[in-house]
Amino acid sequence: MSEKRDTFSSRVGFVLAAAGSAVGLGNLWRFPYLAAQKGGAVFLLVYVIFALTFGLALLITEISIGRRTRLSCIGAYKKMNSKFGFLGLLTALVPTIILPYYSVIGGWVTKYGVSYIANQSGDIAKDSESFFTNFITVQANGFTNNALFWFILFMVITTVIVLLGVQKGVEKASKIMMPLLILLSIGIGIYTITIPGVVSGLKYYLVPNFSFIKSFKDVADLFLSALGQLFYSLSLAMAIMLTYGSYMKKDDDIQKSSVQIVVFDSLVAFLAGFMIVPPVVAFNGGDPTKINAGPGLMFVTLPQVFAQMPGGKIVGALFFILVFFAALTSSISLMEAVVSVFLDKFKINRTVATLIVFVISIVLGTLSCLGYGPLGHIKLLGREFLDFFDFITNSVMMPIIAILTCILVGFIAKPKFVEEEVLKSGEFKAKKAYEVMVKYIAPIFLAAILISNLVVS
Ligand code: PFF
Repeated sequence: MSEKRDTFSSRVGFVLAAAGSAVGLGNLWRFPYLAAQKGGAVFLLVYVIFALTFGLALLITEISIGRRTRLSCIGAYKKMNSKFGFLGLLTALVPTIILPYYSVIGGWVTKYGVSYIANQSGDIAKDSESFFTNFITVQANGFTNNALFWFILFMVITTVIVLLGVQKGVEKASKIMMPLLILLSIGIGIYTITIPGVVSGLKYYLVPNFSFIKSFKDVADLFLSALGQLFYSLSLAMAIMLTYGSYMKKDDDIQKSSVQIVVFDSLVAFLAGFMIVPPVVAFNGGDPTKINAGPGLMFVTLPQVFAQMPGGKIVGALFFILVFFAALTSSISLMEAVVSVFLDKFKINRTVATLIVFVISIVLGTLSCLGYGPLGHIKLLGREFLDFFDFITNSVMMPIIAILTCILVGFIAKPKFVEEEVLKSGEFKAKKAYEVMVKYIAPIFLAAILISNLVVS
């Protein structure tokens, strides 16, 4: 009685949807900062090498498991080995936890985008720090200044697209937004390098700089930051690539598609650095160490930069539209991964499944939203709700899931489980290297990421 599984209509559709998932806030607010802090071109180089080895191997693994089993994560791992059902469950929890808080941040982006488009960025620029704090702590007056309102709006937009299904929703949205995102990135990147005074920032971003390496610890830190960033950026171990793989056509080339996804994601990260690092350095008096990561960079520093830049209001509007597309294609993928579990497990229809996920997300997202305001006194492991959800998934659950996946593929189901699937629709050039990676190198790297996350926390 099983319904026919949805598929992407074409390989391009699949690659754009997967790249849409990968390209997100990680590329825009984490990568530029890491590159600026860790030796510019040195970081870029280390990142690209890891991306095309470690990242690619894990990506091929997830996509192949999805396509071979034609199931979402819960069924897929169980089908590979009946004792690994728990891994599917653990994996399904990750997007369920991430989607709500990611959409809270998506709501912040939407608010900023609308303010810039409506030419109201003056309010933000006047005192961007207080504006942001009042906004996210839900203290500002009026519902359009209320972060909860924007979170719900972002969640509704994501939900409507997922309701439309794989081809008409996920694929179509990606086909429209991803090319625009690339155009915007290139356009803003070109514009920002024409701003007077950007040369020192450009140098900082592009010229290899080894001076930050003073001990072995700094080298280890460089490698671990690049690995961690890659892992986050490629949307690995969060059920997404596996789910999208399960929608991929049997004759579409897995290796080629995976390489394209990695290149796309790395390119956008690189361009993000181009549009962010040089102007920030130019406008903060030339001190590159003042570049911060995360919300502070995007919602506090950049509005100040836009306010000083010629044509900054337009650049700001275009920039937040770009971030909105990046966040939306990622949130769609998170939601689709959860919906897919409900579809497979409970055999309900897409509308019901999507609405159930919507309700769960509104509840958890509201906690994250109010956790910076009225619920600020509640702390989990010393963190507000949003930071707790982020920590538990990204720093703890995801590396564990990826290690277990490598063990399952490397030693229990054996690498041929993946290799056979790749070979069905194309070549697998580095098969031997893949085996070594998935069995030995990747688990060691992942264990190092996990340990460093736990130690740093
Ligand atoms: N890979 C996306 C990004 O870089 O933003 C999506 C994502 C990664 C979402 C990690 C959530 C997350 F915790």
